[in-house]
Amino acid sequence: MNETTVGFLGLGNIGGGVVRLLREMGGELEKRESVKYSIKKILVRDIYKKRSIDVPKNILTTNAEDIIGDPEITLVVEALGGDMPAAEYIKQALMAGKSVVTANKLALATHWRELLATADEYGSKLYFEAGVCGAIPIIRTVTDSLQANRIDRLYGIINGTTNYILSQMSGKGVSYADALYEAQQMGIAEPDPTADVEGGDAACKLAILSTLAFHSLVPLDDIYSRGITTITPLDIEYGKELGYTLKLLATSKREGGIVCSRVHPTFVPQTHPLASVSGSYNAVYLFGHACGEMMLFGRGAGDYPTASAVVSDMIAAARGEAAPQYRMTSESTITPNWESRYFIRLKALDKPGVLGTIAGILGKHKVSIASMRQNPTGETHAPLLFVTHLARELDVRAALAEIGEDIATIENVIYVEDV
Ligand SMILES: NC(=O)c1ccc[n+]([C@@H]2O[C@H](COP(=O)([O-])OP(=O)(O)OC[C@H]3O[C@@H](n4cnc5c(N)ncnc54)[C@H](OP(=O)(O)O)[C@@H]3O)[C@@H](O)[C@H]2O)c1
Repeated sequence: MNETTVGFLGLGNIGGGVVRLLREMGGELEKRESVKYSIKKILVRDIYKKRSIDVPKNILTTNAEDIIGDPEITLVVEALGGDMPAAEYIKQALMAGKSVVTANKLALATHWRELLATADEYGSKLYFEAGVCGAIPIIRTVTDSLQANRIDRLYGIINGTTNYILSQMSGKGVSYADALYEAQQMGIAEPDPTADVEGGDAACKLAILSTLAFHSLVPLDDIYSRGITTITPLDIEYGKELGYTLKLLATSKREGGIVCSRVHPTFVPQTHPLASVSGSYNAVYLFGHACGEMMLFGRGAGDYPTASAVVSDMIAAARGEAAPQYRMTSESTITPNWESRYFIRLKALDKPGVLGTIAGILGKHKVSIASMRQNPTGETHAPLLFVTHLARELDVRAALAEIGEDIATIENVIYVEDV
């Protein structure tokens, strides 16, 4: 039997979920996996706070040193959240030779190089399956199962909150604000939803996943990210009429020698498996040159789904199994000039010649139109919609900058991915 003394940093949704799951499954894990855990200390902010999980008060502490400085504790489970002090505690635990299991994508994506270098230097291990897509074993799939592949495209619905909001907007025709409010009432969105709805959470996960999948450092700062706050039911409705479903898509592609990673609202064909991923579910769809296409689907958040991944990493740590390695074979150069198709919704002056002027400006900037739709309203300005063929980002931006408000206002621009 492999007996491990554990210290927890955090006893919130995830820390509490892991403790609960260990209590429920402890006996089975002992028999089946020959691992046994004893929780010695748990770091919290407030020892006297009322909690949904009962733990003896004497194992709670507000001093991280009680865990990091205790040589009996060989495994640390970090579920504090936020960048600091979490990243510093992870680093100190690694320096003390402990294994660390974390669910914290922000700390990891921000301090990735430093933390893995510390683990290397001190011969300790850092596991982070729970940091990307909760219960879905995407880190292991990429690092332990697909080594013989060159992965050249990867698409993910990797934020459950935004997927829930967009699914509600699409299914019920409600506004972004109403869908967000409902998600907050249900506990699917945080009271401050910024990290989710602005795309920051998905960008952290994409930085980690793409670095591993492409063996090429994809720094968080180099990921273009745009959230869903400007999406209207009208965008979704027009997209549906054209055969598309709107998702907050995290995309990484190898284009020549360059890895291009971005997070933004994207129309995907209604017939594609990613379009059917609704509610708060997550999915990652990727292409390897040997394995072909593959999609992993499941719960990307929540106490038990995330605890499922944390406990799996705890078992790997107890057995001394290798932690995911980051071996860079090429330095990534991020291009701001990627290629995509674009959905451009405008309100144009309803008079002869305007359509031709706009089409002329797009053409001048090498943006060719795949389809167009005009809804005359009898008013001075009428809705106008273009979907382009593949075009370069900088060309599209230049063309849109040239369309003056005297002829049209740009209402929204959304990427279209044929996946
Ligand atoms: N929630 C999810 O579905 C989910 C899914 C995947 C990954 N994650 C990640 O898991 C991590 C934890 O999330 P969570 O939802 O469990 O957060 P949470 O419910 O807010 O819990 C945070 C816990 O950490 C403690 N804590 C925070 N800052 C502290 C500090 N400076 N010193 C001491 N204790 C501190 C809190 O103590 P008190 O209890 O005393 O306040 C609380 O117990 C985050 O990195 C998150 O991104 C969450």
